[in-house]
Amino acid sequence: MTSTAAAAHTTGPAAAPAPAVRLTGLRRHYGDVRALDGVELAFPAGSFTAVMGPSGSGKSTLLQCAAGLDRPTSGRVEVGGVALEGLSERRLTLLRRDRIGFVFQSFNLLPSLTAAQNVALPLRLAGRRPSRAEVRGALERVGLGARAGHRPGELSGGQQQRVAIARALITRPAVLFGDEPTGALDTATSRDVLGMLRELVDREGQTIVMVTHDPVAASYADRVVFLVDGRVHGELTSPTAQQVATRMATLETGAAEAGGFAC
Ligand SMILES: Nc1ncnc2c1ncn2[C@@H]1O[C@H](COP(=O)(O)OP(=O)(O)O)[C@@H](O)[C@H]1O
Ligand SMILES: [Mg+2]
Repeated sequence: MTSTAAAAHTTGPAAAPAPAVRLTGLRRHYGDVRALDGVELAFPAGSFTAVMGPSGSGKSTLLQCAAGLDRPTSGRVEVGGVALEGLSERRLTLLRRDRIGFVFQSFNLLPSLTAAQNVALPLRLAGRRPSRAEVRGALERVGLGARAGHRPGELSGGQQQRVAIARALITRPAVLFGDEPTGALDTATSRDVLGMLRELVDREGQTIVMVTHDPVAASYADRVVFLVDGRVHGELTSPTAQQVATRMATLETGAAEAGGFAC
């Protein structure tokens, strides 16, 4: 993963592997509000990126546009080499289902279904019947192979989020997006889930893009990208929690307005 990420930065465009996600000139305006105001970012395949920024800086909007859940005002989103802008609603729905995983702060599991049934549900709704091995495999990837028959109420918060992650990963998506996926978990459980995400990247080359406001969570990533007022405002590679906390404190006190960050 890190070597792939490094290669993408150090080799020429012809030699670099295609990024899992590329955002070009991305804008999303709501009336006068510029939620995204010209974002250029590439997320290399097999890399783990954290997105941080003050409240209202456009983090969720960035994820929603990158995941094809929201249409940008202008600019381009490519996932796995496919540009989303030209796609019909139907093609976009298929691409979202097959190539994009998304997890949220809330786990959004159906309480009456077992872990296995929750994981299988999106594919079943789409008219596919995943094999038991497929479902089992997805649960094993998140360390929950032994909990397939448990209902959400019989699982801890961390285990429930793992089920949601297994559900997002069952199609082996090009990218897994998480909008504060550990935001509802206690500290120890959150570290547990972050360690598991890190392993998915290291072991399987999964690409992950995660919004977080927790510097420790961000330190599990290969790179942290900072957003301010809908624009990229610098990044850190191989970040420590301390470095991230310091940078965030500066951004949140508004010192960013004075500029001076090395990007
Ligand atoms: N559906 C919407 N309608 C109007 N304004 C919105 C909408 N969604 C987000 N915004 C605005 O866009 C900006 C960025 O929001 P958001 O992406 O949710 O920020 P973050 O996730 O960083 O807190 C904010 O000013 C927010 O109020
Ligand atoms: Mg948000």
